[in-house]
Amino acid sequence: MEVIRAIKEMQNRANLWRRENFIIGFVPTMGYLHEGHLSLVRMAKRRADKVVVSIFVNPLQFGPKEDYEVYPRDPEKDLSLLEREQVEVVFMPGAKEMYPQGYQTYVEVSNLTQGLCGAFRPGHFKGVTTVVLKLFNIVKPHFAVFGEKDYQQLKVIQRMVNDLNLEIEIVAAPTIRDWDGLALSSRNTYLSQEERRSALALYQSLKLAERLILGGERRAERIRELMQEYIKKFPHNRVQYIEIVNPETLERVDLIKENVLIALAVYVGKTRLIDNKLIRVEG
Ligand code: PAJ
Repeated sequence: MEVIRAIKEMQNRANLWRRENFIIGFVPTMGYLHEGHLSLVRMAKRRADKVVVSIFVNPLQFGPKEDYEVYPRDPEKDLSLLEREQVEVVFMPGAKEMYPQGYQTYVEVSNLTQGLCGAFRPGHFKGVTTVVLKLFNIVKPHFAVFGEKDYQQLKVIQRMVNDLNLEIEIVAAPTIRDWDGLALSSRNTYLSQEERRSALALYQSLKLAERLILGGERRAERIRELMQEYIKKFPHNRVQYIEIVNPETLERVDLIKENVLIALAVYVGKTRLIDNKLIRVEG
């Protein structure tokens, strides 16, 4: 496994691989890797000749009051985990390499970024699409893997790839959860023992919603109320949003008639956690 830090060197490597007709698979991450990230890497390994994982905590996608400075980092452990997965290259640029003096170009997907997390994190998805397009141009993958854990991000990237005619296949990977259902996240490391117990309410409320819908409840508002009530019973929890949306357009649904995505963001103490679940409904 090789660690590459310079953009030009990564591009040269990708060009070489492409000349030899190797299929390049790519997994972009911000590091502090867990089993969720590793499941994406394994999915890429199955389909690619050469796998590149990037580790870059992207300053552009954090708001001024968000956790860029304190975002967890452990590059040594990340590299040893990726070594074990037999990844070919880890691309680890510095912030100045990605955004040198004078940088002023951004990519923005308009409608899909308005709701859900986009409503509470202005500029976040603009930061994500900008860095992902840059990474695509540097790593030159044939396909890239993204987790359904960040469902809106996945949809926004798919939209960008379609709209800009990028020849990159976007592969979706299911959410990996802890033994009790909590979605794995690098940010779970911020939680105290008590907060960790309260954090389970996100997943449990999604299961509650699923039971309600399977039991015939079709009023989105009613389901959201009951989810909110459930989550608030636990200490430290503050709901930022609970939304029931069309899984393709991410537009709000009032009366549930077909498959819906239920997505939520909850502050558990100072830690903002997100989760979502696709609920299948017979037409
Ligand atoms: P990061 O939060 O490190 O996540 C990297 C990838 O891992 C994303 O595709 C995310 O959806 C996926 N992932 C995270 N937790 C997961 C879980 N529990 N199960 C399955 N997949 C999971 O998302 C980002 O970084 C950044 O926004 C990035 C795309 C790298 C751009 O900076």
